[in-house]
Amino acid sequence: MRDFGPDFTWGVATSAYQIEGAALDDGRLPSIWDTFSRVPGAIDNGDTGDVACDHYHRWREDVDLMSGLGVDAYRFSIAWPRIFPTGSGPVNPKGLAFYDRLVDRLLEVGVRPFVTLYHWDLPQALQDLGGWPERDTALRFAEYAATVAEALGDRVADWTTLNEPLCSSWLGHLDGVMAPGVKDLTAAVRTSYHLHLGHGLATQAIRAAARLAPSIGIVNNLSPVESATGGDEDLAAARRADGHINRWWLDPVCGRGYPEDMIEVYGVDLPVHPGDLETIATPLDYHGVNYYFRQVIAADPDGPAPYSRQLEVPGAATTAMGWEIHADGLRRILHRLADDYGVERIYVTENGSAWPDRVGPDGAIDDRERTAYLEDHLAACAEAIRGGVPLKGYFAWSLLDNFEWAYGYDKRFGLVHVDYDTQERTVKASGRRYAELIRQSRAVPAV
Ligand code: IFM
Repeated sequence: MRDFGPDFTWGVATSAYQIEGAALDDGRLPSIWDTFSRVPGAIDNGDTGDVACDHYHRWREDVDLMSGLGVDAYRFSIAWPRIFPTGSGPVNPKGLAFYDRLVDRLLEVGVRPFVTLYHWDLPQALQDLGGWPERDTALRFAEYAATVAEALGDRVADWTTLNEPLCSSWLGHLDGVMAPGVKDLTAAVRTSYHLHLGHGLATQAIRAAARLAPSIGIVNNLSPVESATGGDEDLAAARRADGHINRWWLDPVCGRGYPEDMIEVYGVDLPVHPGDLETIATPLDYHGVNYYFRQVIAADPDGPAPYSRQLEVPGAATTAMGWEIHADGLRRILHRLADDYGVERIYVTENGSAWPDRVGPDGAIDDRERTAYLEDHLAACAEAIRGGVPLKGYFAWSLLDNFEWAYGYDKRFGLVHVDYDTQERTVKASGRRYAELIRQSRAVPAV
């Protein structure tokens, strides 16, 4: 634990739609996920986020859990449809009041609030006007960001504009497996562009509105990409996949513009207005990395753009999501951000694993696989720090078992088990181990 040092930020992460429930309480109106979760066959078991972990009513207990784990920080998202139920127009004071209370309580128990503004829950009313493929959505997002920063920016210093814009764009608008369930390359590319524009505008709006000196970043889910073979076609496919997964998301916000090779692969005109690329590249204070797996890629000329496909690695150990466990990929992607993109402040904003947890006769959950996964990935972080990567914090995904999007409630990522019948929370062995590691890191004297 020596590598992390006493100033390292130890956190846990969640997102609004995955835990809050209370879908229609206090003036909230539907988001695209409320709509999508009602599409027959879209979500395993027909699950929805209507109740989820009922965090909207049990937030005090959940803050106590965090305090018990000894974490420094809590990364959570604000539900845009609670603040502006129709996406814009009058603010819903009851929606804001919920986060106001949450932030106050977190600060009371010494847990730093890390606020994410967009974790996929676009107000349905904005989707009805065209959603992210339309420029106006980016402008509405900046207004929403300004409103939240004005309300909470006297107590919140740490802000994330977007969580995983790749998922909103490629999974939501190209593959159609996430809300809003669109399958259209042009819509997907336009979505990515307007998300980036919204990110840049929101960054500027937070800086203008927040009263504490804000630390603002974006969170991308990144994966190191490898070619399945040394053949030219697979190598070219891996390069395209890298563009699709990593460069498309990093280059524009790092001031490099959109990768030319990918603009050609997509063949979609970007809806650029003068000054947009500068807005998109508004300087940031940090980058967040969500890491789950690496990608081994082969050419797929008949598939959809980017004409590549991820292969299963024979014999590889996988989690319940079927995702390969490959901790060294985290070290490599952290190095890439630091070494190739020159990022000077990095957080691992999500990392974790789903397992079919079993509750023992004594009520305990001895989740050895999750614990091993956590330890291995923290070892990869430590190695990155030793290698010079400016990694400043780690957020375990997730505090609680929760609504895992299209997989519903079957896939459990929590350090804390949730019994969805009773809403009882039980800290798993992995949660206790995380608490122990945090304690150990604090015991290390400063050098
Ligand atoms: O649950 C999700 C989260 O919402 C975004 N990152 C990946 C997690 C696991 O799939």
